[in-house]
Amino acid sequence: MALLEVKNLVKKFDDKDVLKGINVELSEGQSKVVMGGSGCGKSTMLRCLNLLIQPTSGEIIFKGEDITRPGVDVRKLR
Ligand SMILES: Nc1ncnc2c1ncn2[C@@H]1O[C@H](COP(=O)(O)OP(=O)(O)O)[C@@H](O)[C@H]1O
Ligand SMILES: [Mg+2]
Repeated sequence: MALLEVKNLVKKFDDKDVLKGINVELSEGQSKVVMGGSGCGKSTMLRCLNLLIQPTSGEIIFKGEDITRPGVDVRKLR
């Protein structure tokens, strides 16, 4: 099982589509690099993954649990 699975992650700020359906998987101990020009959405993606901002849609599955669902204990997860 993947440690982290990101499925079709979308983030919009007003009308601006910043993340247009990100899919990524990470297994325990694995490292991945996020590269891209300034303003392409790297920080927005990372903020979504730790729930500093709420994704517009999509799933973030951490250890088998969708952490975007309502009522999730964010502090416990962190
Ligand atoms: N809170 C916000 N409100 C509106 N637009 C934002 C906000 N945060 C980021 N953006 C916009 O989202 C885009 C991606 O920004 P960001 O994720 O910071 O890019 P990167 O980290 O790749 O440089 C940029 O166009 C930025 O202006
Ligand atoms: Mg950044």
